[in-house]
Amino acid sequence: MILPIFITFSLLITSSYANSIEFDYCVADPTLPHGPTGYSCKDPTKATADDFAYSGLRTPGNTSSMFKSGVSLAFVAQFPGLNGLGISMVRADMAVGGAVPLHTHRVAELIVVIEGTIIAGFIDTNNTAFYKTLEKGDLFVIPPTLEHFQVNVGKVPAAVYASFGSANPGVQAVSNSLFQTDLPTEIVQKITLLDRAQIKKLKMMFGGTN
Ligand SMILES: *[C@@H]1O[C@H](CO)[C@@H](O)[C@H](O)[C@H]1NC(C)=O
Ligand SMILES: *[C@@H]1O[C@H](CO)[C@@H](O)[C@H](O)[C@H]1NC(C)=O
Repeated sequence: MILPIFITFSLLITSSYANSIEFDYCVADPTLPHGPTGYSCKDPTKATADDFAYSGLRTPGNTSSMFKSGVSLAFVAQFPGLNGLGISMVRADMAVGGAVPLHTHRVAELIVVIEGTIIAGFIDTNNTAFYKTLEKGDLFVIPPTLEHFQVNVGKVPAAVYASFGSANPGVQAVSNSLFQTDLPTEIVQKITLLDRAQIKKLKMMFGGTN
């Protein structure tokens, strides 16, 4: 029994690392089909330096939003050179009093504060909240899948960069998933204990229905 299982496992490992063994890089070709391991590769002879550069995080995000924050993504969809490399980045800007609302990703995240003073934190599966005031240059790491947030607690706008252990880490924000969807108010009420009027108000703000 053990040998066939071992062989099956080895084959899986080999196939999932095939790209890194056979190619230096695999720039995404979004016009081709893609699956759980990423996009198909653009013809490597057609790759250019531009495929490996991205300027979308150069300027601050627009903080005229409900949470007074703006997040710019450099995931594989925006930056095709990241495909298959298991790495990506975002830039989050927070106006004075702004916050990056409670959300999760599939993978670990490493934050570095570029400007301002923030509190960054996460809540673990034991419902222990870990949070810390950070200054420019400080790092904070978020374990995979845990709910986390950042709040600008300083007197000036704050900015952070955050890197991820995936080219497509996903983002799921708790408020958006509750109030931007068509999940009926009665169900939201049952699963959160919030009152109906509050749910209706938040659905209006986030653009949800039902
Ligand atoms: C920022 O977003 C707000 C609200 O969506 C919009 O009205 C405004 O034009 C945007 N500003 C810039 C500079 O894009
Ligand atoms: C889980 O939380 C409880 C308090 O709510 C604490 O007593 C316990 O030590 C925690 N366990 C771990 C592994 O952190």
